[in-house]
Amino acid sequence: MLPCQRHRFQIPRDHCYLNAAYMTPAPTDFIAIGEQSLIERTKPWSVSPADFFKRSERVRSLAAQVMECAPTAVAIVPSVSYGVATAARNLPIQKGQMIITLAQEFPSNYYGWDRLAKDRGAELLMVPGPPEQDWTEAILEFLHEHGPRTALLAIPHVHWSTGAMLDLPRIRDAARHHGAALFLDLTQSLGALPISLSEIDPDFAVAAGYKWLFGPYSLGYLYVSPRWQRGIPLEENWIVRAGADDFSQLVAYQSDYQRCPAL
Ligand SMILES: Cc1ncc(COP(=O)(O)O)c(C=O)c1O
Repeated sequence: MLPCQRHRFQIPRDHCYLNAAYMTPAPTDFIAIGEQSLIERTKPWSVSPADFFKRSERVRSLAAQVMECAPTAVAIVPSVSYGVATAARNLPIQKGQMIITLAQEFPSNYYGWDRLAKDRGAELLMVPGPPEQDWTEAILEFLHEHGPRTALLAIPHVHWSTGAMLDLPRIRDAARHHGAALFLDLTQSLGALPISLSEIDPDFAVAAGYKWLFGPYSLGYLYVSPRWQRGIPLEENWIVRAGADDFSQLVAYQSDYQRCPAL
């Protein structure tokens, strides 16, 4: 059992704040760290090219520890919808195929797929809310019924509106059986529930960081399976190109992205 962490937060004694599913309170450490960053911005002469990479690499490795995967499989993203858009850009969904999500899914795990389905002539279907059975059984039944046309299952680990938990290994097996890709929204579970992405092996998984990870707003984490790590990003930013850490060579334009060492 984790010992009491109250001393790390500025929660008034007469407050009992439990709504981490909405937003966690930032730990008090945030204030000193934020202040330090602002002070650094007033002294750009003290910022070296290596500083552009050091912190993001540290954040990536911390996220990878919680996701139980290689740091090179994690991209820092501003939101879940950005993760959905990145996956949508890379998944080869075709005309006539189906994308499946859950009824009353959080909108960021709906709108991007809705757009993709419309653009490709595919169909977006929602597994109806389970009246008696659980979500896992409802998804397995739905797949059994619609199986062969399913190209993608886009689901959460924990449903945002009820807290219901899904059995990911069973769903992953069923998705594989039908040849469907698996996209996970871990926003309502990562940090609160253990997960091993190396073991579950989804195609993509994303989490916003300001809930159970106690992070700032606008910092999220996208896991990309090695199967998709040679894909295309949403934006062609210079910092993700090969050799970006050598600022003297930035206009020696590179067609390669920074590669994960294992690839
Ligand atoms: C399950 C789930 N996904 C995603 C989000 C946030 O999405 P985004 O980062 O696109 O704003 C929330 C916020 O409540 C959520 O509960």
